[in-house]
Amino acid sequence: MLVTGGAGFIGTNFIRYTLKNFPHYEISVLDKLTYAGNFNNLRGLDIRFTQGDICDTNVVDSLVSQADIVVHFAAESHNDNSLRDPSPFIYTNLVGTYSLLEAVRRHEVRFHHISTDEVFGDLALDDPSRFSETTPYRPSSPYSATKAGSDHLVRAWVRSFGIAATISHCSNNYGPYQHIEKFIPRQITNILSGRTPKLYGTGEQVRDWIHVDDHSAAVHAILSSGTLGETYVIGADNDHVNNRRVISLICELMGLSPDAYEHVADRPGHDQRYAMDSSKIRRELGWKPRYTDTDTGMREGLEHTIAWYREHEEFWLADKAQVEQSYAEQGQ
Ligand code: NAD
Ligand code: DAU
Repeated sequence: MLVTGGAGFIGTNFIRYTLKNFPHYEISVLDKLTYAGNFNNLRGLDIRFTQGDICDTNVVDSLVSQADIVVHFAAESHNDNSLRDPSPFIYTNLVGTYSLLEAVRRHEVRFHHISTDEVFGDLALDDPSRFSETTPYRPSSPYSATKAGSDHLVRAWVRSFGIAATISHCSNNYGPYQHIEKFIPRQITNILSGRTPKLYGTGEQVRDWIHVDDHSAAVHAILSSGTLGETYVIGADNDHVNNRRVISLICELMGLSPDAYEHVADRPGHDQRYAMDSSKIRRELGWKPRYTDTDTGMREGLEHTIAWYREHEEFWLADKAQVEQSYAEQGQ
């Protein structure tokens, strides 16, 4: 199995989950080690690692030719960065996916593409509907537009060239090894480093949070019994939890008052509400999340995540001041 972006947040967790639960896979990783990738996440694991760019057709061709299956996580993944400079998003998310698709076509290798719920745009806060496999695309940010473009490439390569591919759209993940630019680890490490947690705008936005291990389990369900050419939506039914509630829960779990955070400048074009209807993968593939229900499951998932950041300062401390400096420059 070739895993692209395996030194990032979800890729690292997916590799660890795979080695533990599906030890028959031999894993090869291709990762450029951008600011978001960290080789130490994988140190000591029984894998083969190549530092390289998914846009480099020679490297990609050689690694794909040796694989039976490619799971494609590599991407520029942070919305706020895409608002500051979209160019690496165009390059990695579009050109990189194209280069992988051409290689899997040449070598007839199974491909799983990791997409996101953000390709569907957002819902109004008072709209109770959810995204499903048939929701039309309506991306809002340069990040989600490039992810949408990469999905369209995969679908076109399935239809035009008959490649053996599947796509999954997952909602917001949390868990260990997530870069501290993202909402949950940013707040945990703010508190651990004596800073005040930062909430964008009023914090009414809703994200359908899912623990990263539940995402890994869903991807394996698709690899084992998904139908080629199909798309699967993945979510854990947390679509009633707004950012204010999550930041308060983090404060409370870390021994602070639930309102011990400050409001900062909102994200331009901020998506309001994401909500996932994951009935297809539950019904057809028998997957279901373990960390569901905000009051028990998400609380437990957050407790583990907080403990992990507390015990792994080496993962985040060296980057913390610089990440906060660049947020401060945006009034955030
Ligand atoms: P991340 O930013 O933590 O990791 C991305 C990894 O890709 C890094 O290791 C980076 O070095 C690598 N990479 C970037 N550009 C590369 C290139 N040109 N060539 C090779 N490697 C490159 O991202 P993440 O949060 O782990 O997200 C992984 C995937 O899951 C992405 O495709 C993202 O769109 C998708 N996704 C993320 C979430 C989420 O909540 N984080 C939810 C749904 C889908
Ligand atoms: O929905 C899936 C997507 O989830 C993935 O495709 C992306 O790769 C991933 O980064 C994530 O995107 P979001 O933009 O939703 O995640 P982020 O962690 O940046 O922000 C989550 C919410 O928290 C969002 O409403 C903005 C808000 N926020 C974020 C930060 C960093 C804050 O209120 N304060 C913050 O400091």
